[in-house]
Amino acid sequence: MTRANRAGNQQPKTIEEEIRKSLNGVLVPGANRSINGLNLIRDISLSDGNAGITLASAALNSEAQNWIAAKIKETCSNIAQLKSVDVLFTDSKPSELNDISHVIAVMSGKGGVGKSLIASLTGLSLARQGYEVGILDADITGPSIPRIFGIDSRPGGSDTGILPVPSRTGIEIMSINLLLPNEDDAIIWRGPLISRTITQFWEEVLWGRLDYLIVDLPPGTADASLTVMQTLPITGIVIVFTPQNLVEMIVKKAVNMAKQMSKPILGVVENMSYIDVPDTGKRMELFGSSKGEEMAKVAGAPLLAQFPIDPELAILCDQGEIERYDSEGLSAFADAFNQAMSARVS
Ligand SMILES: Nc1ncnc2c1ncn2[C@@H]1O[C@H](COP(=O)(O)OP(=O)(O)O)[C@@H](O)[C@H]1O
Ligand SMILES: [Mg+2]
Repeated sequence: MTRANRAGNQQPKTIEEEIRKSLNGVLVPGANRSINGLNLIRDISLSDGNAGITLASAALNSEAQNWIAAKIKETCSNIAQLKSVDVLFTDSKPSELNDISHVIAVMSGKGGVGKSLIASLTGLSLARQGYEVGILDADITGPSIPRIFGIDSRPGGSDTGILPVPSRTGIEIMSINLLLPNEDDAIIWRGPLISRTITQFWEEVLWGRLDYLIVDLPPGTADASLTVMQTLPITGIVIVFTPQNLVEMIVKKAVNMAKQMSKPILGVVENMSYIDVPDTGKRMELFGSSKGEEMAKVAGAPLLAQFPIDPELAILCDQGEIERYDSEGLSAFADAFNQAMSARVS
């Protein structure tokens, strides 16, 4: 069930409930999310019709704090029983506030197979179902998530935390690309610095309350992947591959890493599985015949999808418009993903 559904639309009964309902409408500047969505509400006290509302100040500069305080007073002024409202801020770290139900890592033993694309499609299909979704771009040397979603604004924040940048449809995104002065700057950092950046993206970014955080891993099983496995509470791994030679070895590498780190594999996705030749009705297996079922066996997890090479998808990615993509294949993937999630939760 999505958080929005769980919250429900019940009529508030007490003054506190009425305050909470009003606070749902107060957005954090630059984040496009409510103070409740970012889990900033720490305490609400009431005495004789005077309310004291305590918020965490993480990732909020003084300008944002003043703006939020004014907005809260304005919205709460509609509550007849309230005489006054005080807004206080208390220091907290993003890591104390983040409340993320599921962390899904998308990995492959190889580059260029469509990991970032599948991570993006996973995120957008979950967001379309009403889930609160974030995407953490853990590919520090080859970040591609901001380009796929067409975002280039710099993250907001303060000394106490960074705010992710919302995509057009409200997916929360953090990537090193959003922090670089120039999108084309090359990152030539060594492993430890890369690992530290990923850890910061987990601990110092205010993700708030999320149903899903999708982590787009770099190719292979080196430092960055290891850091993600060691630092983040992974719910499940999605392994991406294409039907080329050596695929078995590539999938096995990813499977072995997951097993060594005791992380469950949610499923495998075959990308660039085939191409439907326009106007002919013919289906061509450009990279050889499908290895989907075989790889599912290797991973001991279901085959979640077989995506074709889709020129429309490539164009939408290049234009930063992936959120406009839809296909029967994507809906089938969403169903298979949900099924794999409920199979592992129950
Ligand atoms: N199914 C597909 N159809 C068309 N283009 C694709 C497909 N999968 C990936 N691509 C394109 O291939 C390139 C590599 O994909 P990407 O997701 O960046 O791979 P990775 O993250 O594994 O390196 C991108 O330009 C992407 O748009
Ligand atoms: Mg990538």
